[in-house]
Amino acid sequence: MKIRFSILFLFLFIVSVSANQSQPSVQEMREEATRTRLSQQGEDGYELWLRYAPVENQSLLKQYRKQFKNITLNQSSPTLQAVKDELLIALEGMLGIQPVFSESHVQSSGVLIGLPEQIPGIGNLIGKEEFNKLGNEGFIIHGTENKSLIVTANTEIGLLYGVYRLLNGLQQELPLSELNMMDVPKTNIRILNHWDNLNRTVERGYAGFSLWDWFRLPEVIHQRYIDYARANASIGINGTVLTNVNANAQILTPLYLEKVAALADAFRPYGLKVYLTARFSAPIELDKLPVADPLNPQVQEWWNKKVEEIYSYVPDFGGFLVKANSEGQPGPQDYDRTHADGANMLADAVAPHGGIVMWRAFVYDQNVPEDRTKQAYNEFMPLDGKFRDNVIIQVKNGPLDFMPREPFHPLFGALEQSNLMMEFQITQEYLGFSTHLVYLAPLYEEVLKSDTYAKGAGSIVAKSIDGSLHGQKLTGIAGVSNIGTDRNWTGHPFGQANWYTFGRMAWDPYLTSEQIADEWIKMTFTKNSSFVNPVAEMMLKSREITVNYMNPLGLHHIQARGHHHGPGPWVAGGRPDWTAIYYHRATNDSIGFDRTSSGSNAVGQYFEPVAEVFDDIEKTPEEYLLWFHRVPWDYKMKSGKTLWDEMALHYQKGVDDVRKMQSLWDSLNGYIDMERFAYVKSLLEIQEKEAVWWRNSCLLYFQTFSNMPLPEGVEKSDKSLEYYMNINELYMPGHH
Ligand code: GCU
Repeated sequence: MKIRFSILFLFLFIVSVSANQSQPSVQEMREEATRTRLSQQGEDGYELWLRYAPVENQSLLKQYRKQFKNITLNQSSPTLQAVKDELLIALEGMLGIQPVFSESHVQSSGVLIGLPEQIPGIGNLIGKEEFNKLGNEGFIIHGTENKSLIVTANTEIGLLYGVYRLLNGLQQELPLSELNMMDVPKTNIRILNHWDNLNRTVERGYAGFSLWDWFRLPEVIHQRYIDYARANASIGINGTVLTNVNANAQILTPLYLEKVAALADAFRPYGLKVYLTARFSAPIELDKLPVADPLNPQVQEWWNKKVEEIYSYVPDFGGFLVKANSEGQPGPQDYDRTHADGANMLADAVAPHGGIVMWRAFVYDQNVPEDRTKQAYNEFMPLDGKFRDNVIIQVKNGPLDFMPREPFHPLFGALEQSNLMMEFQITQEYLGFSTHLVYLAPLYEEVLKSDTYAKGAGSIVAKSIDGSLHGQKLTGIAGVSNIGTDRNWTGHPFGQANWYTFGRMAWDPYLTSEQIADEWIKMTFTKNSSFVNPVAEMMLKSREITVNYMNPLGLHHIQARGHHHGPGPWVAGGRPDWTAIYYHRATNDSIGFDRTSSGSNAVGQYFEPVAEVFDDIEKTPEEYLLWFHRVPWDYKMKSGKTLWDEMALHYQKGVDDVRKMQSLWDSLNGYIDMERFAYVKSLLEIQEKEAVWWRNSCLLYFQTFSNMPLPEGVEKSDKSLEYYMNINELYMPGHH
């Protein structure tokens, strides 16, 4: 008896051990098979977040298939045709089905896409007030009790946005019940700024050449133009400035306008309006007018005619983006006129056609003996209220120039009677070009959620650009594009996340970086949480990591001269406001720019209590320390360490964390296709090498001032300062 029992126990034990240890579960086997298959395949990234990979959850797949088998959609316009085309690609990819489309509502199940008048009985489900709230671009996705799923909006573009959002939910494999929503964009103008030249080079472009194949336009319409429009529409971007802010007047000539019109025609079904940059001196350059003085009637007349001509090519032309009197660009100040005079003259020309003027506040002048970061505020505040209703002032997120970290621009909250829009940089001019993995959502979010205190606590920057703070009618967000002819559009596969983020945050500046990363990874790579969660965490940290190895503790503008690739804290000579020493001001006892009330008083441009916080070295958050203060090398930081030690440790941490990113990425081998996996892996190698380059250069250089030893834990450079100072890169992308 006893023996028999023991044998039985032994047998059961062996069975359970082998079941627990050597036999993977069915789920694990399935995952393993997918991983092996994926690791042998390649994806070049062209598809972006619109890959429409097969739905894996079997019960969801069944529900989705049932729901999407029949779709009611009137296909009488190019936009609705685009909706249908997208559904065909998406449902084939995700569900493996070809839905049956009908023009009018016959069955009570399925998916019903239409304007309110096309949906019988819609009034019983959705009230008039709700449709009023939707405006021209909002949409409603509504699951009904009789089982049909309705997508409705006041306009066809609203329907397009609704369908893209629905497909976004399907790509993330969300249950149908979670797809019910009403969503309205919080800003009017959600626009990409391409810094593209007519010779197809891209200023600060690191992903190949310009998408616009001017030479072959207007005849050749590349599929890429359509896919570009699809990608933008899928995230709610509704405008594109085709040309560089450092503008070329040629774009305003008939030869080019014909080409612009062809692009506008290709983009129109996707709700993407075309805008151009206007070179202020165009009347002189194109038609030999003696001046471009905005108050000269002949000049106004020239622009009126020019604008009429543009609208004859592009009837829904959006308007102009203008960089004037900045970095050598012509502008109204050449004639002693103000920015308002210049902007209003162009605004009057486009107004009869419904156009707008985006006038940039990125202005500074080396001949003005004032801290560069104060100049835009000084120029624009006296003009508040003097701009036409169809002018919108475009303000960079910080007062200097797209640094890895800047405090928010003091014009946010301060301009009360002028329309105001945000300008973010998507291309990573100061954040490692297209070779460093830097997820920019935390940077955007940090700015958008900064409290200006313009109307007391809670007056965050987001409210100053969505019009809720001061009631501006025209609102917007611009993003300097990171897109080029690289097959994967953005050079770095993770650069796609920044394009995606820009669109999502322009639509809703209150979204979180976490949510956007999660969506994007699922759509771009895989829904497997063993991949999604660690990659999201890595992305969320990546911006701070870059700040650490490039510009910790409020350091800024210490990049190499001209092309801006790599470190250049030693840059001196020439225009002072283009050097590094102008900004860090290192001496043997201190470092940093004194912008307090006893220095340049840039802090005085902020509302209280922000001004008071930035004015006080004890209260200033350490990430802005050297932005606002001159600080002795042996100053005691919150950690108890000296400023020098803290700085050195930040640089080291940046490097260490890039290495952690590398080992994390290595551990994820097999979850995604080999092609993108290997590419990111190699790019991380560059990032590690360049993080070391930044750390060594900056520490060797600043050590010549601090004269202090490196603290424990900081690796010593194997090369000399001289070696780093002699690196002379000649042919950098984005620079010419
Ligand atoms: C930066 C950038 C320039 C660009 C300028 C701008 O300074 O380096 O290339 O023209 O910003 O925003 O106008």
